Amino acid sequence: MRHLIAAHASRPSDDPIFALNQEATTRRAKGEAIVNATVGALLNDDGSLAILPSAHDAITRVPAAEWATYAPIAGSGAFLDAIVADVLGTEPSLASASVAVATPGGTGALRHAIANFLEPGQALLTSNFYWGPYATLADENERRLDTYNMFTRSGSYDLAALDSKLTEQLATQGRALLFLNDPCNNPTGYSLSDGEWDDLVSILDRQSARGPITALIDVAYYTYAAGDPRRFVRKLQPLLGKVPLLFAWSGSKAFTHYGLRVGGLIATVGDEGERTAVQSALTYSCRGTWSNCNRGGLYAVTQLLTNAELAARCENDRLQLRELLLRRVAAFNAGASKHGLLYPRYEGGFFVTVFHQDAFAKAERMKARGVFVVPQKGALRVALCAVAESDIARLAETLAED
Ligand SMILES: Cc1ncc(COP(=O)(O)O)c(C=O)c1O
Repeated sequence: MRHLIAAHASRPSDDPIFALNQEATTRRAKGEAIVNATVGALLNDDGSLAILPSAHDAITRVPAAEWATYAPIAGSGAFLDAIVADVLGTEPSLASASVAVATPGGTGALRHAIANFLEPGQALLTSNFYWGPYATLADENERRLDTYNMFTRSGSYDLAALDSKLTEQLATQGRALLFLNDPCNNPTGYSLSDGEWDDLVSILDRQSARGPITALIDVAYYTYAAGDPRRFVRKLQPLLGKVPLLFAWSGSKAFTHYGLRVGGLIATVGDEGERTAVQSALTYSCRGTWSNCNRGGLYAVTQLLTNAELAARCENDRLQLRELLLRRVAAFNAGASKHGLLYPRYEGGFFVTVFHQDAFAKAERMKARGVFVVPQKGALRVALCAVAESDIARLAETLAED
């Protein structure tokens, strides 16, 4: 007798990235010199997990009652105000049109966006290089995923492909939900240029006259971007009142506490009545999924964002990690150009992607040489966040070998 419903009877339980990491770890433990560029966590050059000391302090200072008590369903008001200010603090008109709910990591925020801004059976839209769980989240929530071509032949963002997919989706499903993971896209490492943001905003502005479009910006990695990570926020003003903006905020990378499961969904909605309805729908979704989040985690992150002394220390701690990562980015760019690797403009972030026609066979050959990367159709994802600077020359060389 089968008790699982047919549609769920053969779901894969293993995550291929975790399986590759396991294999790399086992071989390293046996004494092999392994380069493990699979895992999406920032490691120090000695292989230990990089942890912001200020974030650790904030967590150890959380009062016992904060850990023990339920959080409000939508998250504590102080936390929600803090994440809105963190993303939109420089744009008061956007901040004042925003509501938010706490979610278990950015993943929960993505889930709520899919469940509330698409009808069952409809497809979210994202670039053809995307974080794999987008598809899992869509599937789990009985939605689908559709993609546009991400890069033109010259290596810039293919905004024309995005534009025409929006036209198609508005025609076929009467609405669109765009997922844009920027800056520091996972897996490609790409960040839109200022000019590309201008063009994207004008496409969304124009298309929004044809039907309801919601744009979700997944800012999971934004604190590690080169330059001012909030630069893009200044571009968004023309969309207010036309395209609801969602921000999937994550404390996992920003505060190096992946297991704390602190995140939030911010919704910037011009129309006040719609904004209230969005807040209610998101709160209802919280109740109907995880009920409420980790109150102690919300408290610690609120302190990190709002306590002036702690926030300054945290900024400073993070700057050091950002510099660690930027040194690896520079080493990769040097090695990659020496060996003529084909990859998108890469200025910062946890990952970069190297294009390869036969990525799965190539990743197997690299594995045989002790270098682990994650293959996907047409490309290899390289998690520089996990690779010591001293290993990057070998990594680039192995990527270039036949
Ligand atoms: C692109 C992207 N978005 C969102 C997330 C969400 O992370 P979390 O749920 O741990 O906050 C991740 C984590 O790896 C990610 O890579």
